Amino acid sequence: MFTHGGRRQTVALRTANTCSSEESETMKQHNIAPLVLASAIAGSPFLFMQEVVSQTTSATATTSTSFTARDPGVRPGTYAGGPLKNLTASQLEYFGIAQAEFASAETVPEGLGPRMNLDSCGGCHAFPVLGGTSPFHNPQVDFAKGSSNSLPSFITPTGPVREVRFVKNADGTPDGGVHSIFTIAGRAGATGCSLAQPDFAHELAMSNAIFRIPTPVYGAGLIEQIPDTAIHANQLSNATAKQALGIRGRSNIVQAGNTMTGQPNLNGNDGTIARFGWKAQNKSLLLFSGEAYNVEMGISNELFQTERDETPTCQFATTPNDTTNTDAATPADALNGLQKFAMFMRFLAPPAPAPATPSTTRGSNLFSMIGCSQCHTPTLVTGKSTIAALSNQPANLYSDLLIHDMGPGLADGISQGQAGPSEFRTSPLWGLGQRIFFLHDGRTNDLITAIRQHQSGSSRTSDASEANAVVANFNRLSEPDKQHLLNFLRSL
Ligand code: HEC
Ligand code: HEC
Repeated sequence: MFTHGGRRQTVALRTANTCSSEESETMKQHNIAPLVLASAIAGSPFLFMQEVVSQTTSATATTSTSFTARDPGVRPGTYAGGPLKNLTASQLEYFGIAQAEFASAETVPEGLGPRMNLDSCGGCHAFPVLGGTSPFHNPQVDFAKGSSNSLPSFITPTGPVREVRFVKNADGTPDGGVHSIFTIAGRAGATGCSLAQPDFAHELAMSNAIFRIPTPVYGAGLIEQIPDTAIHANQLSNATAKQALGIRGRSNIVQAGNTMTGQPNLNGNDGTIARFGWKAQNKSLLLFSGEAYNVEMGISNELFQTERDETPTCQFATTPNDTTNTDAATPADALNGLQKFAMFMRFLAPPAPAPATPSTTRGSNLFSMIGCSQCHTPTLVTGKSTIAALSNQPANLYSDLLIHDMGPGLADGISQGQAGPSEFRTSPLWGLGQRIFFLHDGRTNDLITAIRQHQSGSSRTSDASEANAVVANFNRLSEPDKQHLLNFLRSL
């Protein structure tokens, strides 16, 4: 398992121990400087060379023959978090109100728990600003301090925020559900409630626990407004190139009906394409809000009315915990939490990329040439929306919103909707420049590792990742070209 701390050591090693790991972290940030400089005089071949050379000298070696490409690291500054351009005055007002709700922490008297992973949406969706993903310091570590909970081994100060799913139940049948890390036992307002945390050490020893890290929600309103026809048309495009690379991909359809004999009828929906979450398992921002409120924070609501844990001695608020306020003085006050969360995410602007430089332009071309863009579709266009700012807009998300078989190396054994144990949604890459942890379980914070992890299995054993041929293309690039590709990814 790679942690942020682990990465630092790796970087230090790569710089041949000529400096301490702290220094190399700083250098990593400084590597951005030439990139910005080059952008000032974009198009100059001289500066283009400069950039590569400067990367060379700050990496292991001084001669270009032994130059090794490396991840420039998190892009400094903040390029996300504001509202969409062209919102109306009243939409902007609602954005502000909704933003505050997304940031606010809930308490036991307000309905927090009895089991949860944290106390606010914004705590997990935090970096680089509200709406993003795991910050450098894991808020779950501090959260545990206000209770009688203990920290499981996989929650560390410098590791990513994590939620846990169990692959199987004790009797061997599929589980797949989220098992909350914390309980309210020992927290302010929870007198008389005693609840044990799941036995994570046991589940880990049985290889039955998998992790998910938060996905950022910038630009989520644009993703929500992409019509199914646009997703299908993109799926059918470049058929020859995709076939040659072994790329298939399918949509995660929310199935109508979905009754299974002898089992409860779990949430049948409307037969359209689901698109949010690591397996594209969720249909809309409102639905994700309802689910996250109950699953991540233990707040029952008008979409998910029932407490996930009904232990009588641990109920300190009326259910559902969060409701529409019919006595409110203003329309905004009447909204329930879910509507506000969804509104914040819907009105949230996509992340702004860094200005193009000759290196990032070359990297962008390579991204298409070697086939990354066959899954990470640079742009899909939204349909007609009642919200003008979301209507007929390009969404530069770098995803086809389809699920792909990523092979045994990334497989987590969990099925969600039609997405099977080794299938994942092509991660949208916008905002990648400012992400610390990568892949569904946050297993690395190094972009090269993230790319190489796309490759596993083989056609001989019928478990090949659909990305194998593309990763082979990546591996064949020269080191300077790899560097251009990485510079491009960190410019997003
Ligand atoms: C404990 C951390 C945590 C908290 C608290 C949390 N989330 Fe998340 N969020 C996650 C994780 C983990 C995922 C990925 C889940 C998955 O796909 O399995 C996620 C994914 C999402 C997504 C999907 C975005 C996309 O495109 O994939 C949305 C929307 C979202 N969260 C909204 C919310 C809202 C609204 C709240 C507050 C009610 C919230 N989250 C609270 C951890 C958290
Ligand atoms: C077959 C489709 C496919 C191809 C081809 C592909 N990717 Fe991906 N990519 C995915 C999927 C699916 C994920 C999410 C996997 C997971 O988290 O387990 C992903 C995740 C990523 C991530 C991590 C993002 C995050 O949110 O953590 C990066 C970075 C990335 N891809 C870059 C690339 C690059 C660069 C290339 C070309 C060398 C490439 N990908 C080719 C499907 C693809």
